[in-house]
Amino acid sequence: MSTASTPTFGLADYVRTIGEVLDRRAANRVIIREVSVATKQLCADDRWLEERFRVGSPDYYTRHLLHRDPNNRFIVLALVWAPGQMTPIHDHSCWGVMGLIQNSLEEICYDRLDDGKRADYAKLEQSRGTDVGQGGVAYLLPPFEEIHRIGNTSNKQTISLHVYGRDLDEVNVFDQVTGKVSPMRIKYYSPECGDVPFVI
Ligand SMILES: [Fe+2]
Repeated sequence: MSTASTPTFGLADYVRTIGEVLDRRAANRVIIREVSVATKQLCADDRWLEERFRVGSPDYYTRHLLHRDPNNRFIVLALVWAPGQMTPIHDHSCWGVMGLIQNSLEEICYDRLDDGKRADYAKLEQSRGTDVGQGGVAYLLPPFEEIHRIGNTSNKQTISLHVYGRDLDEVNVFDQVTGKVSPMRIKYYSPECGDVPFVI
């Protein structure tokens, strides 16, 4: 959407809204419901997103850190995806919500069939695949709804918005064929932070 007026709901409003939900110490399912509403509102008019956070790479999808809660309760990211770029299968160990600023993403979700007692092994089964487009959201809700892979299966650049309920600096990556689980450090492309581009 593009009009001459200022967006009525920008990043600062979004961050404040999430903070207010968390201040109430709501259950994760309530957090996801309310953050999803705010995410749709923020993504409906993307003029708040600066050009420097729309920069991608032909070599990897690019994670721009937009906000880190001073109390480490959540982070907000913009991810830029060239056609064909996709994550491996991974988990999060926190709640999360994803919305689309530009174009669409495919999300493939997995159920864990083993008992989770081995840190280095998981038996996964694909549960569903969904195309998430503008106006739509996807969510992560541990312990059973938080393993997925996402990627840009279209032929245009995608920009997505992500909020996670912790400073997501490490995830587990899953090999569905061998069952191997590998912890992986992750980074941001954020000039202010001095971090290098993130690649997995
Ligand atoms: Fe994810």
